[in-house]
This record gives sequence, C-alpha cells and structure tokens, in this order.
Amino acid sequence: PRAVRIGICGLGTVGSGTLNVLARNGREVAARCGRALVIEQIGARRDNPNCDTSQLSVTRDIFDVASNPSVDILVELIGGTTVAKELVRTAIENGKHIVTANKALIAEHGNELFELAAQHGVTIAYEAAVAGGIPIIKSLREGLVGNQVQWLAGIINGTGNYILTEMREKGRSFDQALAQAQALGYAEADPTFDVEGIDAAHKLVIMASLAFAMPLAFDKVYTEGISRICSEDIRYAEELGYRIKHLGIARRTDKGVELRVHPTLIPERRLIANVNGVMNAVLVEGDAVGPTLYYGAGAGDEATASAVIADIVDVARTLEAKPEQRVPAAGVALAEQGGTQV
Ligand code: HSE
Repeated sequence: PRAVRIGICGLGTVGSGTLNVLARNGREVAARCGRALVIEQIGARRDNPNCDTSQLSVTRDIFDVASNPSVDILVELIGGTTVAKELVRTAIENGKHIVTANKALIAEHGNELFELAAQHGVTIAYEAAVAGGIPIIKSLREGLVGNQVQWLAGIINGTGNYILTEMREKGRSFDQALAQAQALGYAEADPTFDVEGIDAAHKLVIMASLAFAMPLAFDKVYTEGISRICSEDIRYAEELGYRIKHLGIARRTDKGVELRVHPTLIPERRLIANVNGVMNAVLVEGDAVGPTLYYGAGAGDEATASAVIADIVDVARTLEAKPEQRVPAAGVALAEQGGTQV
C-alpha cells in the first residue's frame, strides 16, 4: 500500500510529543501498521523548542493543512472549540480523516462533526481525548463490545488528581500544586477546565456515548470540581481512613444514563484510592465480563502522543476501506442501532 500522509496542526505539548515519539519509534510503528507514515505538513503558529521540525514542511496557517491535497489524515492538536471546529470541518469537507486529542470539541460538537464525517465518508478518531495514554476508547468500542455496560467510574483529570495528591502527600497548597501541574504540561490552556470538573465532564460524556450507545450529552452532566477542597478536608478524610478523589461516573438506571462529576470519599484500601499524581484510572463494569480496570498516565506530552499515534495507525490501516468497514465514530451511529437515551 502507498504511504499515508499526515498533517499535524498544533505544536504544543501533545504536538511536540507526537513528533518526538514518531521520530523515535516511527520506523517500528510503520512496520506494525503495514504502510509508510509520512509527515506531509505541520501547521503551527510558532515553533516549539521541544521538538525539531527542521526537516519538515511547516506552515503558519493551519488551514493550509486542511486544504492540502497531499494530506490524508489531519491531526488536530490545537485545542479549543472555535478555530479547531472550523479547521476540522474544513478538513472533513476536503475529504480528510481526522485524529484529534480535543475532548471539548468532541464532547460539545461531536454529534454534528460525526454526522458531517459520515456524509463525507471519513473517520474521526479521538483516543487521545480521554485519559491520555490509556486505550480506553478502544476498550469501550471494541474490547467490551459484547457487554451491556452497567456503569463506569474514573479518575479522568490528571491535573486534578496531581493537585489532590500533592496536597495530601507533600502538604502543598492548591495554588502551588496547580502551578506545578501547569509547568509539567498537564493542565489545559485554561486550567479552570481542570479544576472545575469541565475537562472530566467532557471525557465522561465521550466514554458514556460509547459505553451506552447514546449521543454525546455534555449538557446533561452534573459537574463539580475540586477548587473548593482545602488541605483540612484532605487531612480530615485521611484521619477517617478515606482519600478524596475526583471521579466521573456514568451509570445505567431505570430512567436513563446518569452522568456526574464530583469529588468523592473513597476508603483508602480501594485500588482507585491509590491512583496518584497524574495517573488516571477507569473502572468499567460489564454484564458479561464483570469489573475491569484501566490505569495509566492521564496527561503529558508522550503519554498522550501514544494515543494519537494509535489513532493514526487505526485510520491508516483502513484508509481504503469503505466507511462501513471502519470503526464507528461514536454514540450517534451506535444510537441509531438501538442505543440508550439519557
Ligand atoms: N488537562 C488534562 C488533564 C489533560 O489534566 O487530565 C489530559 O486530557
């Protein structure tokens, strides 16, 4: 098969991580993929000193990438929902497949974008949008496809979990711990999304759409963050044998699927109480398989790049396939096949 030509938009934390991992592992990845992977073009407003683009074609106008006839897959890593949405729409209309790490874009505009993608016979892949490097999207979409999921619950914001861990283990203040998470590249451009639970709500609805075969329902999530948790709360919880963890929970009920994001008290001996720092963990209970647990780095340049590259390979492998032979984008398509409603 011919080489797959990739256009990468955005050279922030995830963009630079993706270039660095591809530079290191690209040959092996291509061998596993069964076809050559070529970085055709990069679109970025500015260079990033953490990666080397000297051998690559770089444009300052990301829309050049969306209209470049030589690009097969546009990898959207600019974040946000305004320009990113316009970029993705343009690329889809130009027949390009999309790989994105943008949970806000998928959670808030995914229903519309998936429909547009279906009209144009292209795929949108978004493994990197949820839980960083953990292959949770693939697990929900493929590994657990034989189950009726009863519920899922997870620590799905690395920044928040890092802050809670630093406050408990090192006695850092909330603000100190947040500044550190920002310096490590874990936090969103606007860290309000991390500490107010919005980022977790984005990720929760994306998982729920796959787990319960329903459309994305961001407006249905009860959302509470960690910004009002102070050191005393953490200390008192500890004295009582609990840890404070911020969870996203989706549960099948008689009335539909319940979606909520908030801090919880978890007995300290539970596995999930011991998920610390930037690590994420998602528990999924299926009727056939029983409880399952997925654990790994929930944020960071190379961990997230791992998921971006997995999506690139998934799309590359099915580049010439008919749309119905590809994996379904998400809940919208699944809902049409008899899914759940909120
Ligand atoms: N800001 C996000 C987090 C990045 O901290 O989890 C990964 O989605």
